[in-house]
Formats: sequence, C-alpha cells, structure tokens
Amino acid sequence: PFGLQRLVDSHLRGHLSRKPMNKESFAHGSLSTSNSANGLLTDEGFDEQEESSTRSVIAERIITRRSLQMRNKQQDWQESPEGQRMLEFRKSLPAYKERDTLLDAISRNQVVVVSGETGCGKTTQLPQYILESEIEAARGAACSVICTQPRRISAMAVAERVAAERGEKIGESVGYKVRLEGMKGRDTRLLFCTTGILLRRLLVDRSLKGVTHVIVDEIHERGMNEDFLLIVLKDLLPRRPELKLILMSATLNAELFSSYFGGAPTVHIPGFTYPVRSHFLENILEMTGYKLTPYNQIDNYGQDKMWKMQKQAFRKRKTQIASAVEDALMAADFKDYSHRTRESLSCWNPDSIGFNLIEHVLCHICRKERPGAVLVFMTGWDDINSLKDQLQAHPLLGDPSRVLLLACHGSMASAEQKLIFDKPEDGVRKIVLATNMAETSITINDVVFVVDCGKAKETSYDALNNTPCLLPSWISKASDRQRKGRAGRVQPGECYHLYPRCVHDAFADYQMPELLRTPLQSLCLQIKSLQLGSISDFLSKALQAPEPLSVQNAIEYLKMIGALDENENLTVLGRNLSMLPVEPKLGKMLIFGAIFNCLDPIMTIVAGLSVRDPFLMPFDKKDLAESAKAQFSSRDFSDHLALIRAFDGWKDAEREQAGYEYCWRNFLSAQTLKAIDSLRKQFLYLLKDNGLVENVDSCNTWSHDEHLIRAVICAGLFPGICSVVNKEKSISLKTMEDGGVLLHSNSVNAQEARIPFPWLVFNEKVKVNAVFVRDSTGVSDSMVLLFGGNFSRAGLDGHMKMLGGYLEFFMKPELAATYLSIKRELDELIQTK
Ligand code: CDP
Ligand code: MG
Repeated sequence: PFGLQRLVDSHLRGHLSRKPMNKESFAHGSLSTSNSANGLLTDEGFDEQEESSTRSVIAERIITRRSLQMRNKQQDWQESPEGQRMLEFRKSLPAYKERDTLLDAISRNQVVVVSGETGCGKTTQLPQYILESEIEAARGAACSVICTQPRRISAMAVAERVAAERGEKIGESVGYKVRLEGMKGRDTRLLFCTTGILLRRLLVDRSLKGVTHVIVDEIHERGMNEDFLLIVLKDLLPRRPELKLILMSATLNAELFSSYFGGAPTVHIPGFTYPVRSHFLENILEMTGYKLTPYNQIDNYGQDKMWKMQKQAFRKRKTQIASAVEDALMAADFKDYSHRTRESLSCWNPDSIGFNLIEHVLCHICRKERPGAVLVFMTGWDDINSLKDQLQAHPLLGDPSRVLLLACHGSMASAEQKLIFDKPEDGVRKIVLATNMAETSITINDVVFVVDCGKAKETSYDALNNTPCLLPSWISKASDRQRKGRAGRVQPGECYHLYPRCVHDAFADYQMPELLRTPLQSLCLQIKSLQLGSISDFLSKALQAPEPLSVQNAIEYLKMIGALDENENLTVLGRNLSMLPVEPKLGKMLIFGAIFNCLDPIMTIVAGLSVRDPFLMPFDKKDLAESAKAQFSSRDFSDHLALIRAFDGWKDAEREQAGYEYCWRNFLSAQTLKAIDSLRKQFLYLLKDNGLVENVDSCNTWSHDEHLIRAVICAGLFPGICSVVNKEKSISLKTMEDGGVLLHSNSVNAQEARIPFPWLVFNEKVKVNAVFVRDSTGVSDSMVLLFGGNFSRAGLDGHMKMLGGYLEFFMKPELAATYLSIKRELDELIQTK
C-alpha cells in the first residue's frame, strides 16, 4: 500500500526505476510527523496546573480546603509514635540546626546558595522544610517544589526516602519523575526529577507556571544539563519575581554560583563526619604485601589491535607518571623511603594494577579489619561487572555467605537498591562496587572503608577533530575529598587510595565542567526548541562558556542531519527530534523507522545504543565471546543487525523461560536486554504520543527487510560514515575528518578479511590513540545517497563532494536526476508536519 517504500526498496536492491517520484506517492501511508504538545505534557507528568490565572473563587476554596487537609495529615503523622521517631532522626542531622536560617534566607531572597558536607541533609531535608513550612502556613496545596537531581537513581531514591520520612507512600505529597518513568499524584507538591526532565518541561512551559520553588541539587558537579538549566533560570527569574531558586552544592565552591547570580546569599551547613585515615599506594603495598606487576607481564594479550594501541598509550603515560613518582620520591618527604618500594613504584601501571590490587585490598579488609561496609569506586560499568565476576569466581574474600557483593549503577531495580542502603546482618561484610555516582548523590550509611581507584570515566571532546573521547581520567581533589568522606559517616573510617600520594597532590582542584568537554548537539537542539535565540549568544552566557569551535561544530552537525536550516532555525525534523529523549541521531533513526514501517528492529537498535551494549566481552574469554557474537551476525557485516537477532532470540527464549540460559550461552547481559526491552516499550508510547506512529499494526510491515533496516540505520548514523577499501591483507577505512580509522575489536566486522560494502556507518568513534569506530554496519552507495544527510542543503554536487566523489557511476545524468528527485522528496517528507 505504501508506494514510496516499495520504490525505495527496489532502488536499494539496485533495480533502479527511471520514473521520478511524484508527490502523490508521499500522500499515502502513515506519514504524519505532527506533534502534540499535550501529549508531551502528559508524558512528562506535568498535567495542567489547577492554579490558572483565572482561578475562580471556588477553585480558591478547594485549594484552601486541601491545604487544611494536608496540614492535618502532617500533624497527625508528626504526633504518631513512628512519626516522632522519624522526627528524632531528622533532628539529629546537621541541616536541622540551620532550618530557620535556611527558610528565612529563602523567604527574603529570590536566589539562595546552600552548601554543606555530603550527608548533612541537604537533599532529603531542605525540600522537605520548604514543603512542611508551606503546609504549616496552610499554603500546602498552592505550593509546588521541584528539586532536580543529576541522576535517575538519586531522584528515585531520595523521593522514596522523603515520602517515608513523611509517613507516606510515594506519589502522595512527594513524587518523582525521571526519563520515561515517574510516580506522581494529584496531591504531589514536592517533585524530585532529573535535570533533564525539568529542561523538557521548560520546553512546553517556559515560565514554569505554578511552580513556586526550584531547587537545583549537586551543582558542584557541573554537569552539562545543570549548567544549561542555570542559564535558562537566570533568564527566567526577572520574569517570575515570585519564583524561588535554591542551589545546593556539596563542596565549597559556592562563591562561583553566588556571584553568577549577582551575589546571592550563601548558607553553609556545618557538618560532622568522623575522621578518615588515608592510605596511599605506598602504605597499601606494605600493608597487603602486594607486588606491582611489571608492565611486561601483561604482554600476552598482544593479539588484540585495540590493546596494542592502549599499550602504546600506556607506555607513554607510564613514563610520565613514573617520572612524576620519581620526582616526588626525590622530594624531601620521600627521602628515606625504602629503595624496594621505589622500584615497584616506578613500574607502577595505573591501568593494570586495577583488579588484582583491589582484590588484595578487599582481602586485607575482610580478614584483618573491623566490621563495616566497603565502598569501592571504579571507573565504569564494565570494570564493575568484570571485577564482580572475578571476585565471585575466586572466593579470596573468605566464606562467600559472609560477603554481600553488590554493584551500584544507574538502572538498578529497587530491590537491589534496598540491599545497598540497608545494613546487612551481623557478620556479613557488605561490599559495594560503584562508579563516581556514589560520590555525592547517594549516601550509604554504614560505609567504614573506601577503596578508591582515583579515576572516573570522563567524556572529553576533541573539537579540532570533532571527535568525542571517553577515557578514564584522574579525579579532582574535590572528588577525592568526597570519596574519602564516604567512609566517616558512622565511625572513624579508612580510605585506601590506589595511587601514590604524589599523584594525589597533582590532581586538579575541581573537575572541568561537562559543557566544556562534550559535543553540544543535543544541547543546541534544546536551545533552539526552547526559542532561546542564537545558540552562540545563549551559550556565551554560561557560567563558563564553551569554545566557539565546539559550538560551531554542533551547529554544522545539526544542519547536516537536517535538524536546523541554513539560518539556524529549527526544522520540523529538528522539532520532532527535540521531543525524543535520545541523541538527535538516534531520534532520527526512530523517526525514519516509524515512517518506513520497520519500527520494531529500529527501536531495538536505538534502545541498545542508548542503554549499553548487551554483548559481554570478558577479558579472559574474549575469543569465546567474540565467536558467540559472530553467530548473530551470520556474516552480514553489521553489529546492529547482530544486536537485533540477539535481542529477538532472547525474547523467544524468554517465552520459554530460557532467557538466562540463552544469555549465559551467548555472552549476553540479561539485565541490559531487559533494559532495552523496557526502553522499546517507552519509545513506542512516545512515538504514538507525538503522532509519529499512527497505526501500530502497520508500523512493522517492513520489519523483515534487511536492506531497508540498513538504510534507516544509515539515515540515523550519517555522517558517522567511513569508506571501505579492501586491500590484499587488510581493510583500509577512512572518514572525512580523521583519515584512517580502525575497527574496535568487539565489532563483528573486525574479524572479517573483506567487507563487501563500500561504506560502513557507525554510531561512535572514540579517540584512544588512533581513532576507533565501535559498532558498524555495511551500507551501499544508494543507501548513503538516499538516506544520508540532507540533500536540499548541499545539492547534488555538495553531496557528491561530501562522499569524496566516490560514486563515479552516479555521474550519468539521468541516474543523477532520478536520485536527486527521490532524495529531495524524501527530505521533504521528513520535513513535513
Ligand atoms: O544531600 P546530603 O548529602 O546533604 O544528605 P541527604 O542525602 O539529605 O542525607 C541525609 C541523611 O539522611 C543521610 O546522612 C542518611 O543518614 C539519611 N538517608 C537515609 O537514611 N536513607 C536515604 N535513602 C537517604 C538518606
Ligand atoms: Mg545530596
């Protein structure tokens, strides 16, 4: 029934029709790309606020009555025995002493900056004080407090905690809202949400109608969303004089924020933590008897291309660090330090010490130290998983039933969360493996020991080559202080720093703000959809403005994919993209998947790319894991198609209750597959809601068509594309910007001797030393020409040039004309309402 698809499909198969497309072909089928702003409102859970400007007397009365009900309910709870006990606990927190000072400062000023040690009660108490005092003043039903958190897990955990402190279930007066999920009721007056959610609300409600207080938490982290939100709020404040803004920060760079808001007053909550003793690598080596592995011993992994590159990088870094260590050892402090340790320090490898040293330290704690939970800071999810496997496989830690080993990550289920926060039974040692998420936003009370690898994965951005880099880098002194402080919550603690003291001394004071080290595409799209004017002007108002070159790159990219027009105005595609909570390129893929009725597989890919790779690649079983993955690719030169097959296979296995078996056999992460599954459901809901999918029955008519799927992948990932030239012994890959690139060893294409496609599109390239492309899919010339980029912008010549004049056959004038017209129609189609 849908002419265009048949036509495109036959083109992709190389049966080129000479008849140019006519307009009518586009008129059929489910092509609406219209949006309903209301739909978004409902999704984000911000129903229309009852408090409209034309509030009638009756409405006024209802509000008063509800406020009184709220006050009674609060009083009843506070007077109940349980409520009393809770109040006792809350009064013991350092924030309580400052309650009146805080409320007073907030009532007198539009902006207040609050700082205080982690755990003093900023997040759980301050929003609650505001809510309680409004309720006490019988204004409960008229207030609306929004408190943002940088991460999903903290928004959910904190809401749960605050509801419990108020003797309520979540969704009564306290709720939460995170991406595609939330618990919020009619009476919710305190909402914890991610920063992203508040930004999305600003998209449809630019003056935050009905909101009385905005609290931005953890601003010291300087995340991109937080910095962005601050610019928007700074603009909004003069237009909403009655709106209160409270900024909360753990470490003491409060002055920076205070001066950004014209010298807003600062309230500091003095905190109390027990002293924590620091052990640096030097002491740890003696304490545990651990010997650093000389770097050469890790040579047996040498087959792997990627590893070789890392090794080179490491060799360089090792020399730098070793000499830094040497320098410091020479310095007065270390003069009498034993020669033996000096030697081991000089072959100290910051990456390979990792697991074994951590294992030794954990052993030491489990066998020799007093009771208390252990919190281990690691760089990323992969590391956490591998270490967890390693620790479980070698029960070095003693009786396994006496050890509770937990991993803490953003998408964990609440049962798991509970285990992390709860004190285990006596005699059980709780060990929590976490990323820097556990640094400030969540508090695990019973931690007595912190083991810190000293690094965090940080995205950085090479603006010159327009390439994002993701590398573990040394944390800042501020982070280090935070991590250490986690050990002193209930009694004096110990912190094991897995690096020498001199490395610590060389840490930067604060981490570089994210805005200055990541690509800015999504952000620029948001600036446009919020109608905040010129992107460059807007970003120049940031706390610390990003490089003009980075801004320019992002704008160029958005023009290239057709999200912005030549004058930097949002196109229809751009507006649709800004409604979808995924990166622009993944949003584009979803929209194409919906338009071309092959939504199911495309949703799997997009969910996979936005969660994480479900294919596990354990270091010591890499060969097995790679061949397991290769089975899913069945030699079709696509990691994305392999992902679809793996996912579909898992769904089938799940139906027969064999999901885990299936994952185990195929080196897949069941947890990731589950996350992908739930994200897919949410995508479908969002697409329907935004009018991008009208008919659920027909949106999969073409889902079996592998060519079409490749083409849609290409539509999303372009200009993430490299040309393929098969040489006798190797394959040469080139992108426009970088010249030669290499395939990441996890890709199914890395095992191939020949790739029978002229192009590979990829989701991500990462600069480690060389530039590596991760997941990739082979695509044909016609796919690139029809689906890649935005023709109307560059015209045929420009497009050809972009493709490096590679498609010589294409120069035949009639062929060119046909392609050109199809492409133009296609671009128009995407850009119609
Ligand atoms: O935000 P800040 O780091 O200042 O502290 P908070 O998150 O408000 O936590 C204050 C106190 O509440 C912590 O010290 C914990 O004792 C307690 N808390 C808890 O018991 N359970 C939670 N889920 C969160 C906090
Ligand atoms: Mg907090």
